[in-house]
Amino acid sequence: MNEKIGVIGGGQMGSQIASLSAMAGYQTHIFDQDVENVTTKLKFAEDNLKNLISKNIYNEDHLKNFKKNLHLAESIHSLAEDKTFIIEAVVERLEVKLEIFSQLSEITDSEVVLATNSSFIAASEIAKDCNHKDRFINMHFFYPPLRMDLVEISYPESTSKEVILRTQSVGRSMGRSIVTLKKETPGFIVNRMLAALVDEAYELYDEGIADFEDIDLAIKKGLNHPLGPFEISDYSGLDIHYYAKLKIYNETKNPKDYPKKFLEKKIEDGNLGVKTGKGFYDYKKD
Ligand SMILES: NC(=O)c1ccc[n+]([C@@H]2O[C@H](COP(=O)([O-])OP(=O)(O)OC[C@H]3O[C@@H](n4cnc5c(N)ncnc54)[C@H](O)[C@@H]3O)[C@@H](O)[C@H]2O)c1
Repeated sequence: MNEKIGVIGGGQMGSQIASLSAMAGYQTHIFDQDVENVTTKLKFAEDNLKNLISKNIYNEDHLKNFKKNLHLAESIHSLAEDKTFIIEAVVERLEVKLEIFSQLSEITDSEVVLATNSSFIAASEIAKDCNHKDRFINMHFFYPPLRMDLVEISYPESTSKEVILRTQSVGRSMGRSIVTLKKETPGFIVNRMLAALVDEAYELYDEGIADFEDIDLAIKKGLNHPLGPFEISDYSGLDIHYYAKLKIYNETKNPKDYPKKFLEKKIEDGNLGVKTGKGFYDYKKD
């Protein structure tokens, strides 16, 4: 099917998902309430694409398609007008996503696929109060989408087989490897496994078994991972891990789920990882 694709949210994920879509040859519109942000992010994606062409990861046809097929939309309404497949990638806040999907479920034809790139919110939760629940699906890309060759697909029982097949097909034509889960689970496969790895690394460090640099080195050399768990934490932001653990603790009240003291201290000191120049490692230039 020749899908017409709409992307809502043009931050670090949405801008590059829309880029992949345009590069794959789909007519693509993107909407973000912050026009300046989406414009900057699309410029960043274009510069990135040119750099990746020089490394033979993409070619000039991709750039031509990017320029020809990717357009800004002025509102969710105008974006939704003629689309067959919509991917939402706005902030990870349930109330914002619910508002967007309730609007989409009203204004779009029942055949239109409604996908979310959310990292933790399941399509079933998003579809709860919407009509035509058979078209809701999680389509989870990885950062940065232009480089990361994976899309996890997950869906509730209400989703139709056709919607799953169309989502797999769109992901594949964007050049991504597809993994389709059989059941919904928070964090899908990768973030669930990553959380277990990071938790255990923090435990080892907290028990004084080894320095964090040595734990990272052991995982990189012993398991052949490109980054260690502390480096990954620094890149994704220590606040993300801290607030995720706090949320779990508030639900379970199990002291084992409370964020580690060393992590709490880093949050208090404003050392949130690469984005602030310091986390476990120091990224400030001399
Ligand atoms: N960053 C990651 O590593 C990553 C990886 C996979 C999935 N995700 C998921 O992707 C989604 C977006 O994450 P991100 O990192 O791109 O965030 P981001 O903060 O870079 O971008 C979010 C964008 O949403 C826009 N926005 C907010 N409310 C809006 C609304 N009502 N209408 C239109 N636009 C709106 C903001 O202006 C912003 O540009 C989240 O659900 C996140 O869980 C993130």
